[in-house]
Amino acid sequence: MAEPVAIWHADHVVFARLLDLFESQVEAFHAGERPNYELMTEIVDYLRQYGDRFHHPREEVAFERLVERDPGMRLPVNRLLQEHRVIARAGDEVLERLGEIVEDVMIERAAVEAAAATYLVYYRHHLTSEESKVLPRAGELLTADDWAAVKDAIEDASDPLSGADFEERYRELRKSVSLHPARSRPG
Ligand SMILES: [Fe+2]
Ligand SMILES: [Fe+2]
Repeated sequence: MAEPVAIWHADHVVFARLLDLFESQVEAFHAGERPNYELMTEIVDYLRQYGDRFHHPREEVAFERLVERDPGMRLPVNRLLQEHRVIARAGDEVLERLGEIVEDVMIERAAVEAAAATYLVYYRHHLTSEESKVLPRAGELLTADDWAAVKDAIEDASDPLSGADFEERYRELRKSVSLHPARSRPG
């Protein structure tokens, strides 16, 4: 079952690139330059939307099946599930701080940087854990039936991130990085 794992991994590669891009903007902010706030907002919004709607629903089915095949995976899987919630909250926090900047609300530089740094640390740690602990094990243990259930966790037809809305909502992002090879593919 190499292909579903490869598709899963491809999502993580895109996420890691987006986090790098986000970090480069945070560094500009730290250096006192004006970063591209639109781009920063779109990156976090995209990760939030795509995570909630596509990546996590599939991932959570894969986790569940993995624990059925190997109960020893219960603890790491529980941590990852909790991290999904923590990352979502950290992302909301970043979006709030960025929204305040764009609306010209007085906000301390340190508060923005702290929210951004927390988000980066949590997210990168999460990706590393999944890549090292979960994907290889899933590749070994999940069956064709399991992968079919993973694929069925979402309906491709309901993809809200494609088409005109997608182009409009992620204008800056589309200029900077090509999204998203695995979005409507099986896996
Ligand atoms: Fe995850
Ligand atoms: Fe993931």
